[in-house]
Amino acid sequence: MTIQESYTPEMFAEHLVLMLNHASTTVMIALGHKLGLFDSLEELESVSSRELAEHSGCDERYIREWLSVMVTAKIISYEPMHKTYILPKNYAMFLCRKYSPDNIAVTSQFIPLMGQMLPQLEKSFRSGNGLQYSDYPCFHSVMAEDSYQTVVCALFDHILPLMDDMTERLQWGIRVLDAGCGKGLALLKLAQEFPNSHFVGYDLCEDAFAETLEHAKALRLTNIEFQARDLRDFHEPESFDFIASFDAVHDQADPQALLDGIYRALRPRGTYLMQDIAGSSYLENNLDHPLGPLLYSISCAHCTPVSLGQGGPGLGTMWGEELATGMLQAAGFNKIQKHKLEHDPFNVYFINRK
Ligand SMILES: C[S@@+](CC[C@H](N)C(=O)[O-])C[C@H]1O[C@@H](n2cnc3c(N)ncnc32)[C@H](O)[C@@H]1O
Repeated sequence: MTIQESYTPEMFAEHLVLMLNHASTTVMIALGHKLGLFDSLEELESVSSRELAEHSGCDERYIREWLSVMVTAKIISYEPMHKTYILPKNYAMFLCRKYSPDNIAVTSQFIPLMGQMLPQLEKSFRSGNGLQYSDYPCFHSVMAEDSYQTVVCALFDHILPLMDDMTERLQWGIRVLDAGCGKGLALLKLAQEFPNSHFVGYDLCEDAFAETLEHAKALRLTNIEFQARDLRDFHEPESFDFIASFDAVHDQADPQALLDGIYRALRPRGTYLMQDIAGSSYLENNLDHPLGPLLYSISCAHCTPVSLGQGGPGLGTMWGEELATGMLQAAGFNKIQKHKLEHDPFNVYFINRK
């Protein structure tokens, strides 16, 4: 059945209206997350709008209006007699900080972030020009919150065990690079856990990791360093035992040059872990992708323009597993394993051995 055959005109109109409701609610979920409203609701159990306002340090009139969104969106239940609101426990587990990595409110922040970019995107779509990271308000912090859930929370129990003896090697002491580290929270966690190993984070944007660098200094960690680096000319032969990149390759100025450089930079027996978006390189294979519209939207609004903005190929978020595998092979990797992890429906984990 083609898309045209699947809806009557009336059904399609209903489908669009439903999207309006979902899209506007998602923006308000992001706001609720930023203000800690779901966390307060979970803590207080049953509240009036005044109590929620006091607890969260917000204005009551705004809170009452926000609660109305959540009630009509069937996220929060309302008891009209006492004018109290309840966030059900089985919903709270997908909306509160304490339930990371299952907090979907974190990911909802990409929607308003994309909305803020509309004027620049309109210009880019017409001109074909790219955008710079600095054009995006708070991209690095939203990205870091998201990858905290997919990467940091799963690091020791799910991600490191994908690589045979990696935990033991980190305990003995090896050199590790996070290429395109962003805020570098995964690296910080590793540096704390494995004092005998040395951890290096490279990223184009110094402002992405500046706060984490300060945090590492405050913790007196001597086994971690960050450097602002454009990885299009990455050339440090046989310098690292383990290299990781988390959702970073497809955004690069020159993704193939980075993969070539990573292959060269690995020492014998070295391992490259590439976490990147799960999907096919072919649109026709992504028709039933459960996150298809979201991922292609993020691609339109961020991943494609930031690569084009560096003179890159603009592979896009959905560059796909087929193209990724071909590029890894072109870099020299011929022992490639692919893993999907239950906690992270967004990504696939490629383990590449030299
Ligand atoms: C999608 S973010 C992922 C960040 C981080 N790995 C994480 O998971 O939170 C991609 C990162 O690649 C970095 N990046 C993009 N182009 C780069 C380049 N040419 N050289 C170095 N880093 C680059 C960006 O600054 C950004 O932090």
